[in-house]
Amino acid sequence: MILEKTQLIEITDNLSASDNVKKLEFAADIINKGGTVCFPTETVYGLGANALNAAAVKNIFEAKGRPQDNPLIIHLDCIDNAEKYCFAEQNQYLEKIKSLFPGPITAIMKKRDNIPGIVTAGLPNVGVRVPLDPVAHMFLSLCKVPVAAPSANLSGKPSPTCAQHVINDLNGKVDVIICSGNSSVGLESTIINLVSEPPMLLRPGGITYEKLCSLLGKVSISDAVLSEMKPDDVASAPGMKYKHYAPKSPVFLVIGNLEEFKNFLIEKNFFEKFAVLAFAEDIQNLNLNNIFNIGSYTNPEEVARNIFACLRATDEICGIEKVYVHITDDKTGLNLAIFNRLLKASAYHIIDLRG
Ligand code: TXA
Ligand code: MG
Repeated sequence: MILEKTQLIEITDNLSASDNVKKLEFAADIINKGGTVCFPTETVYGLGANALNAAAVKNIFEAKGRPQDNPLIIHLDCIDNAEKYCFAEQNQYLEKIKSLFPGPITAIMKKRDNIPGIVTAGLPNVGVRVPLDPVAHMFLSLCKVPVAAPSANLSGKPSPTCAQHVINDLNGKVDVIICSGNSSVGLESTIINLVSEPPMLLRPGGITYEKLCSLLGKVSISDAVLSEMKPDDVASAPGMKYKHYAPKSPVFLVIGNLEEFKNFLIEKNFFEKFAVLAFAEDIQNLNLNNIFNIGSYTNPEEVARNIFACLRATDEICGIEKVYVHITDDKTGLNLAIFNRLLKASAYHIIDLRG
């Protein structure tokens, strides 16, 4: 840290008000001096440092407790600036998906030498993201350098979708936390590797697989999206082999209709204390304590926004041994990203009740 303690900066609704601009100028100045700043984006909050300054980037790994072999992505205010840090113009696929920037997507391309090895964990490629969130956009424009940033959570915990999550995890460990509203997507960006042939989806997110296929033609899906990586696997998405999104109690995904789910919980209720994440339509019918509403079956955008906050909320209940999450087997659209995060959160524990 370069400051003595973490400064919390509150951004109010009228972003262009001079007070807000001054606060973001202060945060950008901290980045330029080699400090760390947590900032909102439409996906999740990020923990940023100047990507061109290896010593500053090292502070990110320390604050999060993140393994050094897990690379970071860089954040820019405009995709046209990508060429400065990677071979963007040579990449035939970037042109085809340019309309998705700014937005909840990260493109992996061949890096230039000005991006230090610590950012990419020694890999020849770098992930580039341009957030759509207006606060993130103004902050990144003021920084004038690329900002390396992972999600602003302690390593292994669910990603932060509001300022309070960031404060809980990182207060005292970073220089500045920019506090703004809730993340509107709620899941981290889609990661697409544009160096592989055909392009490969490494992490599903707000930009769906179907959307990518419509723009790129053929897109492959990394094994890491739906199956477990062993610690010594050479992963196409290095972060995927680590523990992820986990609350304190072990998570189990439960698949089955409402009746099957209800009977399962009634039986468990005799000898276990647990929390439940259930769909809005079923909450009343389940009639249990410690039940969290993830949103409607028919509204995956709502579920995406709620899921990390619900997982974190289970940590607040004393004495629970398990978390049961009701899931469907729909993996289309945004549901693929929701299922991917829940798979990782549960360390692949699925209970299938279907008869
Ligand atoms: O939405 C997001 O992407 C958020 C916000 C803050 O922008 N950031 C984020 O960063 O989720 P992080 O570090 O939590 O997740 C990035 C993932 C990691 O799993 C990492 O291993 C992978 O991207 N990654 C980064 N650089 C890569 C590279 N060059 N090749 C393959 N995977 C890479
Ligand atoms: Mg993360």
